Amino acid sequence: MWKIAVVAFASLVVGVCGLENGLARTPPMGWLAWQRFRCNTDCQNDPHHCISEALFMQMGDILVNEGYRDLGYDMISLDDCWLATHRDAHGRLQPDYSRFPSGIKALADYMHIRGLKFGIYEDYGNYTCAGYPGILGHLQTDANTFADWGVDYVKLDGCYSLPTDMDAGYPLFGYYLNQTGRNMVYSCSWPVYQTYAGMTPNYTAIIQTCNLWRNFDDIQDSWDSVQRIIDYYGDNQDTIVPNAGPGHWNDPDMLIIGNFGLSYEQSKSQMAMWAIFAAPLLMSVDLRTIRPEYKAILKNKAVIDVNQDPLGIQGKRIYKDKGIEIWARPISPVVNNYYSYAIAFLNRRTDGTPSEVSVTLKELGLTNPTGYSITDLFDNRAYGVILPDKRFKVDVNPTGVVLVRCNVFSSLNQIPNQFVRDNSINNNLLPNHFNQFG
Ligand code: GLA
Repeated sequence: MWKIAVVAFASLVVGVCGLENGLARTPPMGWLAWQRFRCNTDCQNDPHHCISEALFMQMGDILVNEGYRDLGYDMISLDDCWLATHRDAHGRLQPDYSRFPSGIKALADYMHIRGLKFGIYEDYGNYTCAGYPGILGHLQTDANTFADWGVDYVKLDGCYSLPTDMDAGYPLFGYYLNQTGRNMVYSCSWPVYQTYAGMTPNYTAIIQTCNLWRNFDDIQDSWDSVQRIIDYYGDNQDTIVPNAGPGHWNDPDMLIIGNFGLSYEQSKSQMAMWAIFAAPLLMSVDLRTIRPEYKAILKNKAVIDVNQDPLGIQGKRIYKDKGIEIWARPISPVVNNYYSYAIAFLNRRTDGTPSEVSVTLKELGLTNPTGYSITDLFDNRAYGVILPDKRFKVDVNPTGVVLVRCNVFSSLNQIPNQFVRDNSINNNLLPNHFNQFG
């Protein structure tokens, strides 16, 4: 059994000013092709899995018909390898028409008719990472083309460009996107390429330009890869957590749940941690063949609700010892200046038996004197109301997670609705409260 001794934490800086283009007030949700379908362009031999309009239309249909859209997964996005190898005679981007015979505008229309948004991929460089035409030299033309096509979301990668150019280049393309007058969520890879180049990303500028940004490695189809991302977010939390908020999010990359590399427990761990991270939920999985238990993880409304919490505060790792981690994310409702919390107990150990973790809420910094109403979000088990001094135990499976929601319990048991969406809450209260973890 692990009784926790909580470690000290630096202050959480809150209230950073970020991009206010009115978009992505909660982390974007949808389906993105890359991790599962990569750059498979061989529609002759592998028509079912190649990057083609049919693939995206099928995924769009499933989002609608199987209820994903109604849970918030409302976007279908291209990634690399949709392009022809050359621009058209007018210098405009064009798809590979053998794979996208109807053109990109028709594909965007297809999504819009179904109540979905449509995302596209390009690269702030001479080429995309897979070698297709990049936007350098064509920034304004490409922004206009995307608007003409009805694009709602642009992922702009950073291969084949100079990281030192990005401080000017990413904002310039963002400017051209805004100039089109069309609302387009702007997903950047600016910080990750700069970090790789040994630079320190200027997050003050990044959060004013981008709705989301990649900080770290591409996710691969393995638990090892998921753990590396979790470690990166924990180890660098004092730098990156304060940058998240409504309209501007850290992007730890796609959900790989339902693919080949994660067990059932590990899949719940990814879903829970992406909820704690306030991460975009971009599924990259074959929704035609996903097994029901993985689909249920992706469709877990209680976990999605944590991810989409309107306060938009990213969670932090508050305890780490001997393979056991505890992560906490302040969420709504806020009652009498006490935040509610999502708490993830993550077991990185591989002993063949669950680990029991025992804490008091007070040790986690949850000090509301009238307690918290606690629910397990995967088992849907209610623990009832627990007071801050009471010991609280969970059993966490190897490489698994227990995710609980701790709602502030007021003696009146009435949580005024206005708190749920009130972004004007005095965030100065948060650092002290959050610091009680340490
Ligand atoms: C980079 C990105 C990935 C994906 C590929 C496509 O590696 O980080 O997410 O878009 O390029 O080539």
